[in-house]
Amino acid sequence: MTYQQIEQVVKHNLSEKRFYHSQCVAKQCEELAKIYNVPIEKAKLVGIAHDIAKEMKKEEMIQYAKENSIKIDEIEKYHIKLLHAKIGADICKKQFSFDEQMVRAIEAHTTGKKQMDMLAKILFVADATGDDRSWEDLVDLRNTAKEDMNSAVLYILDLNIKERIEKKKLIHLDSIYCRNELLM
Ligand SMILES: [Fe+2]
Ligand SMILES: [Fe+2]
Repeated sequence: MTYQQIEQVVKHNLSEKRFYHSQCVAKQCEELAKIYNVPIEKAKLVGIAHDIAKEMKKEEMIQYAKENSIKIDEIEKYHIKLLHAKIGADICKKQFSFDEQMVRAIEAHTTGKKQMDMLAKILFVADATGDDRSWEDLVDLRNTAKEDMNSAVLYILDLNIKERIEKKKLIHLDSIYCRNELLM
């Protein structure tokens, strides 16, 4: 499928707001891919498609996971919405023929993971720094992302973890593994 065809499928599956988010992430992925010499087409594709499963209902997610042998871990049981990363990756693999590297990037986009490659890091950072975001340190973070990708990933992980602590929410172990790895 071409980029335009995939974009149409994504549009069909998401609200206007989240489709706009996806377009912004794709644009940000493209920009970062140019800087870090990652194939631009791959980066744009994971950007536009990463949240394709985000608006599935919880019951639909559980159903999809069962039917497609996707394991639901103990944290995802409590925060079912986290599953949109694994399910989205599975959809992209089966419906859009994304390769392993792209699938792994989408799987890692919410929590972060150990041993993320540059494409995965680009998606992780682009998800938080697209034009649809409006938080305080955005400009700084965008600049950091252009100069030091690992620092940008770490910064976003820390923000997410801090927020989860404040809200008394569970923290996925993959975020901790990812953070520790970046600090070692
Ligand atoms: Fe997401
Ligand atoms: Fe996203």
